Amino acid sequence: MNRRLVLKALGLSAGLAATGHAFAMGQAAGAAETKAGSVAGGPFTLPPLPYAYDALEPYMDATTMHLHHDKHHQAYVNNLNAAVAGHPELAGKTVEQLISDLNALPDTVRTAIRNNGGGHYNHSFWWPTLGKGGSAPKGELAKAIDAKFGSLSAMQDKLSSAAMSVFGSGWAWLVRQPDGTLAIETTPNQDSTLTMGYKPALGVDVWEHAYYLKYQNRRAEYVKAFFQVVNWDYVSEQFAQKA
Ligand SMILES: [Fe+2]
Repeated sequence: MNRRLVLKALGLSAGLAATGHAFAMGQAAGAAETKAGSVAGGPFTLPPLPYAYDALEPYMDATTMHLHHDKHHQAYVNNLNAAVAGHPELAGKTVEQLISDLNALPDTVRTAIRNNGGGHYNHSFWWPTLGKGGSAPKGELAKAIDAKFGSLSAMQDKLSSAAMSVFGSGWAWLVRQPDGTLAIETTPNQDSTLTMGYKPALGVDVWEHAYYLKYQNRRAEYVKAFFQVVNWDYVSEQFAQKA
């Protein structure tokens, strides 16, 4: 990591401490100056990466993390802000509210919010689920995985297969269904499981922007690597809180 990247990583760490690890998926007052150095006017902001860009090495490389977070996620935020500009009734909603009921959106911005609101939500959900925190699910999540799949490895096999089955860009998900049980789902593009009525518990981003620099066309290697960097402590905590 060169000096510029080190300083940037330190800046992000300081920003994270100041926000108490909360990632703002909803509103922030006024123009948003992001930690990534971009300025995006509008209610939605890019949450800082909750760890250094090289924290997931060697499984996810720092260059990919920079591009993925600073460029791709930032673009979803910018485009979402552009979509709600001139629609104060939309700009006052959280991104979860916007993408949970796409039919309620004006025709003129529905597709833009579906794609970019979904991209903002999915990535904001995703970043904190990665990192080095525990080696296995705990508590309610561990029980729910065992009840549905029989074991953690069986769930990982099914989620991996789902990730491999996505044609083109999209996501594979472990979701909580309305009855509280778990299921495996996939979504194309940046569609959110919220639109399907399911809360995500864990997701695998299988857009090529998530892995192509390091893994090229070897998606299976990337999916295997993904399971090396899941922050099970955080994922388990979030699952328990949403029970
Ligand atoms: Fe992504």
